[in-house]
Amino acid sequence: MKKVTFKTLGCRLNLYETDALASKFRERGYVTDGDFETSDAEIVVINTCTITNQSDKKSREYIARARRRGALVVVTGCMAEQYREIVADERDVAVIVDNKHKNRIFDIVEARLNGLDVDVEDFEGNVFDYSPAKDTFHTRSIVKIQDGCNNFCSYCIVPYVRGRAVSRPLEEVLDNIRTELEYGFKEIVLTGVNISKYNSDGVGFEDLIKRILEIDGDFRLRIASIEPDDFSVGFVELFRNPKLAPHIHLCLQSGSNDVLKRMHRHYKREDFFEIVDKFRSVVPDFNVTTDIIVGFPGETDDDFDLTLDAARRIGFGHIHAFKYSRRRNTKADKMPDQVDEKIKTQRSKVLRELSDELTANYLQSMVGKRQRMLSETLDKRGYLYGYGENYVRIRLKIDNPQTNVFYDVKIVGVDGDVATAELVGD
Ligand code: 5AD
Ligand code: SF4
Repeated sequence: MKKVTFKTLGCRLNLYETDALASKFRERGYVTDGDFETSDAEIVVINTCTITNQSDKKSREYIARARRRGALVVVTGCMAEQYREIVADERDVAVIVDNKHKNRIFDIVEARLNGLDVDVEDFEGNVFDYSPAKDTFHTRSIVKIQDGCNNFCSYCIVPYVRGRAVSRPLEEVLDNIRTELEYGFKEIVLTGVNISKYNSDGVGFEDLIKRILEIDGDFRLRIASIEPDDFSVGFVELFRNPKLAPHIHLCLQSGSNDVLKRMHRHYKREDFFEIVDKFRSVVPDFNVTTDIIVGFPGETDDDFDLTLDAARRIGFGHIHAFKYSRRRNTKADKMPDQVDEKIKTQRSKVLRELSDELTANYLQSMVGKRQRMLSETLDKRGYLYGYGENYVRIRLKIDNPQTNVFYDVKIVGVDGDVATAELVGD
């Protein structure tokens, strides 16, 4: 049997798309090898990312490694989209597949293996034509509901590589979720580039969530990454439903209004505080995690202090710190006062330390509280690991531990970045 392996860089959308592709290869009789590092597969698919120059670098490293193995190398994803000419320059890359045709990778590979000299453009691409994956490389099931973005934040390359915002038709999303639940998944994570702008024939994001929550079954729904928006009271109230996990990844990017303005973000720090307060008025321990960029052009020490201050005030559960990276064709790339790399590194270090401190605070604040843990992995010592609805990582020691099971637990302590827990009775 033919063997294929995958390397995925970047975001959840890429993970989702890789899962769906792998599933298709398996259905058609291929063996999929989950471990790129050790794989001897004759086909390698690299799903690249270009969000920062670091992502480009990593993507290129993986391409180079795949080439050296003498495999049939397929390169897809955002870096291939943005730097097609660089990828095309690499010897031995058999096929470059743009994001639009990513869903056709199986057919393209088959044709190539059959000796046909096909062109990617011979196939019709579709950014939503991915079937629900049965066996994925992880426990939670990612479901793509949207792609692309119209915001054009001044630092961001995404609208150029994933195009304008498009939404997946409602029935398709619901069918996808139902199938994933039938396959036994217990947590659904919605994903897209800018999901709060979801709109399928007038059905907006709030209605979509309502419709998903109406689906029968013991599962929970996680919204994950979302842009700050004018969330309505109706939307916020949905979090009273225990099926909807009280956690969002709400991207702040900066705590300075001057910087936010130059980033073309359409909110002020005060608006962000208000949004977080709204969620916490419904669920007091609501977990808000975030992305922050340090060293955006013109960012001063005072601006950075404002970011630290905002992060403390909000009490993020986790901060993903990015060093600003110049992206070709974006507005910020042409801005004056680009920040020195050393300063970016320093600020990023300070922010990471703050993130660790805030994570510890958040975990501590959860001690004594109940969570519904979805078990994911079991280590050699017999400890079960998983996440609670608030997205706290939990460790549990019980008799007869099982994965992909909901356990009602009480948090009893904190050990590093993990909350320790005990089972609670009904
Ligand atoms: N430089 C650094 N970080 C960036 N991000 C997006 N574009 C850039 C860039 N040019 C970060 C943002 C976004 C996350 C996915 O990547 O924080 O939320
Ligand atoms: Fe990377 Fe953005 Fe593309 Fe995701 S959408 S792979 S984060 S560039």
